[in-house]
Amino acid sequence: MYSDKVLEHFKHPKNLGELTDYDGIGFVGDPDCGDHLKVWIKVDDNKISQISFKCQGCPAAIATSSMMTEIVKGLAIEEASKITDHLISVALGGLPEPKEHCSNLGASAIRKAIDDYLAKKA
Ligand code: FES
Repeated sequence: MYSDKVLEHFKHPKNLGELTDYDGIGFVGDPDCGDHLKVWIKVDDNKISQISFKCQGCPAAIATSSMMTEIVKGLAIEEASKITDHLISVALGGLPEPKEHCSNLGASAIRKAIDDYLAKKA
């Protein structure tokens, strides 16, 4: 059973779509279930000023991706890179045990987007 917050983010995802003016992209997929997530970030003054995502996956994958974007928006990249799957799950009021792995997508994708930004900047 999903929490009300999970259902809200699944039905009305925040920051959905694609940024055309971006500084980093992160793409991750789960080979076991086939779900995948792409994240775009815009960085200004070392902070994530804009973020968007596209996800093809289960309701929990979409909800955790949406919540991840809400958590990291406005954070310094050092802080955003520390986000964990557990933190995302807790922010949504928890996930059913078989769906705990879904929050890995968001946590991994934001780290990859930050790595991509740092690589381009270097
Ligand atoms: Fe694999 Fe949701 S079932 S990410």
